[in-house]
Amino acid sequence: MMAANRLSFKNITALAPMVRVGTLPMRLLALDYGADVVYCEELIDIKMAQCQRVENEVLETIDFVAPDDRVIFRTCEKEKGRVVFQMGTADPNRALMVARLVEKDVAAVDVNMGCPKEYSTKGGMGAALLSDPDKIEAILKKLVTGVSIPVTCKIRILPSLKETVSLVQMIEKTGVAAIAVHGRFKEERPRHPVHCDYIQAIAQAVSVPIIANGGSLDLVKTNSDIENFRRAAGASSVMLARAAMWNASVFSSNGPVLLEQVMEEYLKYAIRYDNHAFNTKYCLCQMLRDKVESPLGKQVQAAQTNADISEAYGLQEFYQQTRDRLQARRDTMQKSSQPNRPVLDGDVITMAVRFQRREYPPQITPKMFLLEWSRKEKLEQPHYETVERSQDRAFQSTVTVAKKKYRSSLWEKSKKFAEQASAIVCLRVLGIPEGRIGEEDSGLVCKRKREERPEGQSKKLHVQEVETSEPAEGTNSERQHGTTPRARMKEFETED
Ligand SMILES: Cc1cc2nc3c(=O)[nH]c(=O)nc-3n(C[C@H](O)[C@H](O)[C@H](O)COP(=O)(O)O)c2cc1C
Repeated sequence: MMAANRLSFKNITALAPMVRVGTLPMRLLALDYGADVVYCEELIDIKMAQCQRVENEVLETIDFVAPDDRVIFRTCEKEKGRVVFQMGTADPNRALMVARLVEKDVAAVDVNMGCPKEYSTKGGMGAALLSDPDKIEAILKKLVTGVSIPVTCKIRILPSLKETVSLVQMIEKTGVAAIAVHGRFKEERPRHPVHCDYIQAIAQAVSVPIIANGGSLDLVKTNSDIENFRRAAGASSVMLARAAMWNASVFSSNGPVLLEQVMEEYLKYAIRYDNHAFNTKYCLCQMLRDKVESPLGKQVQAAQTNADISEAYGLQEFYQQTRDRLQARRDTMQKSSQPNRPVLDGDVITMAVRFQRREYPPQITPKMFLLEWSRKEKLEQPHYETVERSQDRAFQSTVTVAKKKYRSSLWEKSKKFAEQASAIVCLRVLGIPEGRIGEEDSGLVCKRKREERPEGQSKKLHVQEVETSEPAEGTNSERQHGTTPRARMKEFETED
């Protein structure tokens, strides 16, 4: 029953593993254009082993999140059954641990045995494994017997054909489902011609599917070249790295698509799946290639956020709509899981509230109201402390007023909004007006002065108003709660 659903590596075209390039947006793009299988970028076992599997209900993804909240691997339903997880490893036990961690969410696991870069080889990983066949055997056997999904590996060729064939025959015996062969020697650079004769000889020596790789530069320029490369290498399948990175429509049998359109589609996926802006930028720069110094290229290079990048491509509206849709989902989910009444989280009083700018008159904010109230009460100025969540660069503030801490449990898109949200929590808990449109005038802010205030002078006049406005205590808050804010502060101490 399992076998029927197992990913087959016979007669397929795959997106090759590529560090930084093979993240979710690129993989989805490659699938859209016709790739059968997509490999993720090489992820190091030590890093993955520290990750937690998180179901991201807002993005509808599965995230593997590091202790510092960074998303190391993100996948989604659309690629399930076709995504291969490539790991960098030199340790059978750790490899198995990582494979088990991702087993439910990916179609196969692959071990990188071809990367000649120092970051891979220095830990005995990547191409360093090629000189340690016993280690290769131990890792692959452990994986094949330890997980229910197919196991593959990706190698480079060894100095002699004889050695290469005997290595591949040993690998076949471990029970792997396929072997990707990058037809270059360890010392060769990507500009060197690929050795199709080696791949062909390997393919003839084993019965496990061989995936030919290394043809991007001189052999595969268009979709029909893929089949020519497969034949020239006598392989079962083909794997493309650079040709796909430059223009993923190389997978399309309907012919090439203009790079501008390809980049736009890529960016839409990056926005939809909240891809890290630096990663989005990196991939777009790879696609731009020699156009990276064009006006568009310069704009992309200067961009700091996905919003900036969207602007460069005229996709601001798509960006905003997508962000709004995701925010609405986030709100609905957070609200349903968090009640809209104050709850104690350690020593912090929390509520699920968000600062909506449109609910307040121009230049009026909850923070202003809280500051004014604190001054009237002769309390110390409210003190805000903000933290940033690196996973999605969202912010959460805690405000301290009269030695009590208040915080919104909802994360905000900016530090300013997070502070406003924490001020709202404090004001609502204490029953102090917060300055919303339609709220009964509290006298905390002199309305006439507020309306007269010229743009850009809010802070100065605000202080003035504090000094001239009437005390708030015993006005709105008492009417709303039948008690004073100070009494409510005490009241909360006894709440659970
Ligand atoms: C940007 C980039 C990143 C790469 N990262 C990986 C990687 O993570 N794992 C791996 O096995 N190979 C990696 N490679 C090598 C490719 O998978 C592939 O073997 C090589 O580029 C030759 O294929 P091509 O001619 O189709 O480009 C990378 C290549 C590029 C260009």
